[in-house]
Amino acid sequence: MKMIPKRQNIGSAQGPTTPGLLEAVNGNLRRNPVRVRVLRFDGSQLTVPENLMDKFVVRGGNPLIGSIRVSGAKNAALPAMAAAILTEEPVVLENIPDVRDIQTERNLLVSMGAEVELGYGRASHRTTMCCRNLVNPEAAYELVKTMRASTLVLGPLVARMGRARVSLPGGCAIGARPIDLHIKGLEKLGATITQEHGYIEAAAERLRGGNISFDKITVTGTEDLMMAATLADGETVMENCAREPEVIDLAVLLNKMGAKITGAGTSTIRIQGVSKLGGAKHRIIPDRIEAGTFVIAGALTGGDLTVANCDPTHIGSLLQKLEDCGVTVRTTQDSIRVTNGHRLKASDISTEEYPGFPTDMQAQYMALATQSEGTSTVTENIFENRFMHAQELVRMGANIKVEGHRAVIRGRTPLSGAAVQCSDLRASASLVIAALVAEGETILDRVYHIDRGYERIEEKLRGVGAQIKRLGEILPKRSAAQPAGVA
Ligand code: EPZ
Repeated sequence: MKMIPKRQNIGSAQGPTTPGLLEAVNGNLRRNPVRVRVLRFDGSQLTVPENLMDKFVVRGGNPLIGSIRVSGAKNAALPAMAAAILTEEPVVLENIPDVRDIQTERNLLVSMGAEVELGYGRASHRTTMCCRNLVNPEAAYELVKTMRASTLVLGPLVARMGRARVSLPGGCAIGARPIDLHIKGLEKLGATITQEHGYIEAAAERLRGGNISFDKITVTGTEDLMMAATLADGETVMENCAREPEVIDLAVLLNKMGAKITGAGTSTIRIQGVSKLGGAKHRIIPDRIEAGTFVIAGALTGGDLTVANCDPTHIGSLLQKLEDCGVTVRTTQDSIRVTNGHRLKASDISTEEYPGFPTDMQAQYMALATQSEGTSTVTENIFENRFMHAQELVRMGANIKVEGHRAVIRGRTPLSGAAVQCSDLRASASLVIAALVAEGETILDRVYHIDRGYERIEEKLRGVGAQIKRLGEILPKRSAAQPAGVA
């Protein structure tokens, strides 16, 4: 039996161990042979299978106090890495987050023949990519099924290589998420598209400029076709485009590479095609959804939290909503300070495309609404199945009724720790936030979902006083001088 080296012990346990947790974990033990021994908050030992390491144990009750730093935006980094396909020259990106989806994107580019050096741990998280020798313009199912954003290589491959073979992404926890608008747009630029054996085959000697009007606003659809149009012959005009900050950030990078794009950030984007693009160096914008997640955690735990290295203007709709709930929000150019000494007031939200309330913040907001006085209605307009977190929050004691794409939350109901299951990236963040205010311990299963888009969230939260650990990790001993909960 493998024993994790004991660095330090934590202080004495507070409050009851949540009933049934041991059984839930032991249930898994029976199915998985490899075992490790871990230390729990109360100092007792728990034996768990090694590959179950992707769990968090959270003890609720600590206000978040201090400053927490936001990483680069996953949803800006992924299209920016795909953009490197458009040139033979090196593209250098800074502020790339150390999250699992970036690893997947790296593996995808390398599988095509690209050279990719991921620069984590260095001050600027610099990543260098060179796609001079792309030999295999294919995005295989094995990669695409783990990350839908892999389809962002479709447009750049057709534009640069004249052909692409990309697996269709298949279903997703939060909705059907087809890529029909990407395909329709490429056809408008003159590509010939066929579909067989679960793959899209696209070909064009050279794409030609055209007019694309999106039936529905799509973020990666706008990004994919904007990239494709940069090397097309002639001008492309795209209408009803997504206006997200990540779309703007991609256009900034592409223009640094020599593209001629105007209008990014508005509904109409114009791209004057060029014959060749060059290399560039670019710093990725901060992650507005990570920032929003921490802002809500700060507001909910009633602490005094400064979210640093972010752009408050990117989450204006969220900050406005929190003020409606009675939270005090103070911003500077690159930080947001939240303090909340009062009871939260209930307030409804309805998710929309940018600059409306982001769907990627809906789950986290629902966790907050469980602790607001009164009834809040959450309406999800972007994805048809994005309430998976609701039932897990109910397991923790929340009062939530889901009716189609609307959820009604009756607050305030105290939450208690439980064994809960993560189902997708943002649902996981919602459960972590809820666990921070729940009485006792919560064990979150399948946290690999959260590792896809949050860089070492447990370490960051611990840095501002949360009691959270990844199973298998031992928290440092708390010195006598330190107040309870501030690690
Ligand atoms: C991007 O996904 C983000 N992902 C998502 O973040 C985010 O939730 C979403 O935009 C909406 O803001 C990345 O940027 C990598 P869409 P995307 O195309 O581009 C429908 C996270 O948590 N649609 O804007 O895939 C679609 O089904 C992730 O970080 C079509 O019908 O979303 C949805 O209902 C989750 N046909 C709506 O449009 C298409 O061809 C918006 O989807 C494309 C989309």
